[in-house]
Amino acid sequence: MNKIEYENYHDTSKAYDNTRISVGIEIFLGCFASTPRPLPEQKILDAGCGTGNYIQALKKKVGHLYGLELNEGMLAQAREKCQNENHIQLEQGSLLEPLPYHNDTFDGMMCNQVLHHLLAALNQENFEPVHKLIKEAQRVLRPQGVLVFNTSSHRQLYDGFWWADLIPNAVGRIAKRFPPIEILSSMLKEVGFRKVGIVVPVDAVLQGENYLEPMGPLKKDFRDGDSTWSLATDEELEQAFERVRTMNQEDSMVHYLETRENLRKNIGQTTFVFAYKL
Ligand SMILES: C[S@@+](CC[C@H](N)C(=O)[O-])C[C@H]1O[C@@H](n2cnc3c(N)ncnc32)[C@H](O)[C@@H]1O
Repeated sequence: MNKIEYENYHDTSKAYDNTRISVGIEIFLGCFASTPRPLPEQKILDAGCGTGNYIQALKKKVGHLYGLELNEGMLAQAREKCQNENHIQLEQGSLLEPLPYHNDTFDGMMCNQVLHHLLAALNQENFEPVHKLIKEAQRVLRPQGVLVFNTSSHRQLYDGFWWADLIPNAVGRIAKRFPPIEILSSMLKEVGFRKVGIVVPVDAVLQGENYLEPMGPLKKDFRDGDSTWSLATDEELEQAFERVRTMNQEDSMVHYLETRENLRKNIGQTTFVFAYKL
């Protein structure tokens, strides 16, 4: 792992798809379709494509898809999913470096749940790596191309994921890595993007049908679906496990999940921020 990574994606990659699905595909299609070229003629970049779930979901609609991903394990999963697809091009590389593409290449660029991985623990104040990425996005997008970030607001981090209440200190640590939505919007405007918009799909759940598994936090594969868990100390983990065991034994888990779900249903887990290059 490099010094910025806090989640070991090499290990996580193998089970990643058991606990993570693509969300907001209709939002992406809407954004991409609002740029000048028809979807089948478009080139779209998935920055930090992970195991390729979003590319997979879009491959029948979009002309050419490009994925850039740092982690070999995640990339290997994406490659397996996309083999024999001539219109998909995957590459290993870091979003902390200049993007390996020419100016004015893409009609759209998406970046799903990656921004918080770009910030080192000691470099959280000015979100410089995110600012640099936005500038790079502006360079590689065609005029009127669209940039879409799928991220989470701080409120969503605390109340959009039921288990967040079990590990509040870890959520506090990860929240520092997430640029607040207002800061992200300001950065986009400052770099020169226009028509900044925000969409919150309140029904979308990143973990799909496994989300409400009452014993989930006791299983490593389940925890691997949310990197917040890797920022919990051993003691915080043990306390969380104990609460999960007790609530399951005392039959209070159903009520607990209901209470947590009532919060999530109002705010969702993800926020999509999009903006257009002039
Ligand atoms: C939460 S996962 C999201 C993966 C994928 N976008 C998805 O939503 O399914 C975060 C991804 O960001 C990648 N990542 C972290 N730092 C990166 C960097 N500097 N450059 C490119 N990818 C990076 C990780 O390897 C991981 O695959």
